[in-house]
Amino acid sequence: MPLLQHQPKSILVTGGAGFIGSNFLHQIVPTFSDASIVNIDKLTYAGNLLSLQNIENAPNYQFVHGDICDSNLLKRLFEEHQFTTVIHFAAESHVDRSIHIPLEFIQSNVAGTASLLEVAKDAWMSESSCRETYRFLHVSTDEVFGALGAEGKFTTDSPYAPRSPYAASKASADHFVRAYAETYGLPVIISNCSNNYGPYQFPEKLIPLAIVRALEMEPIPVYSKGENVRDWLHVHDHCDALQCILSYGECGETYLVGGFGELSNLDLLKLLCNMIDEQLQRPIHTSQSLITFVQDRPGHDFRYAIDPSKLTTELGWSARYTLHEGLNATVQWYLSHQSWLKAVMDQSYRDYLKSQYVSL
Ligand code: NAD
Ligand code: DAU
Repeated sequence: MPLLQHQPKSILVTGGAGFIGSNFLHQIVPTFSDASIVNIDKLTYAGNLLSLQNIENAPNYQFVHGDICDSNLLKRLFEEHQFTTVIHFAAESHVDRSIHIPLEFIQSNVAGTASLLEVAKDAWMSESSCRETYRFLHVSTDEVFGALGAEGKFTTDSPYAPRSPYAASKASADHFVRAYAETYGLPVIISNCSNNYGPYQFPEKLIPLAIVRALEMEPIPVYSKGENVRDWLHVHDHCDALQCILSYGECGETYLVGGFGELSNLDLLKLLCNMIDEQLQRPIHTSQSLITFVQDRPGHDFRYAIDPSKLTTELGWSARYTLHEGLNATVQWYLSHQSWLKAVMDQSYRDYLKSQYVSL
């Protein structure tokens, strides 16, 4: 059993109204009932307070509508709450959007992270009593390591080689986080995780998009021939890993998070479509017949795969869900939360999607 390294007393979560952040808050608000927890979120199209209804009235939880680029707001929050713990999720997160609007990604992911680090560093330096017990956890992505060929996995020794504006912005944020550790001694940890799926994911990402399209009997777009491979992890497993890293991880370290869930996009969609048909009691292949090959994403990374052995051997974490179990549970969740889906998908989002795909 690893040694307990950190016990949060006052926690700042950024981007907690998004997909992973909201799942993380559902876990930690009851778990850390003695800690006060503040969630700052800009509520972009990807953030929605509907995802937080279960915890919005918890006595140890508070929501602040704001932008991490707003240093004055951050300073006020740090002064008021004396945070011991920062868990940084806030970011623009969709690769396709980053190809169309890269500057928004630089603003939130790079400038936003730098603004948060600067305020966190000043607060940490001025508060000598909590210096030893402070943590800044940056929730990052495997996309910073670029694309793999058919063989091999990303490890903590993999060089940075981002290939999309999104990946470049997250790589830059990782570099700023490390620079603050080296230069000022800020106690940081970075986690780089593979593709998440599960409840409350905005339906622009492949899995919820495919579920929505199957429900509406609309084409399910797959880029190129569907041969690109992603390494899928259920979001609850990612959140468990983050809690584990926060409590037991060593400052200055990087942990790669993944659960051996590799599948090509086409195989994933076929599996998902079969599950949807089964749960909706539709004739077999009803949803599969909707799969439509469309023009590829520019610079589409071929394959991601994570070697999580540092996290499993040093900190004892491992994934609870198999991909089959996780996908089945996810289909079930979306089918029983169609009012959430409708609420987060407004007309402007539907128009955006329509303009995205060119049929092959
Ligand atoms: P998401 O897009 O669902 O949520 C992002 C949240 O951040 C939203 O609530 C949004 O309103 C908020 N936000 C964006 N810019 C902000 C700003 N300037 N100030 C305050 N809030 C802002 O993203 P997600 O999928 O939940 O990802 C969360 C984090 O995890 C991101 O940093 C992402 O890079 C990382 N990550 C995601 C995955 C994945 O598969 N989804 C995998 C690995 C790492
Ligand atoms: O690897 C971690 C990353 O995973 C996170 O850092 C990102 O925030 C997250 O968005 C995700 O990035 P991807 O680009 O891999 O996810 P997305 O769901 O957009 O696409 C998954 C795969 O499916 C990818 O190979 C592109 C493909 N795809 C995607 C969409 C939206 C399609 O074939 N059709 C689609 O319509």
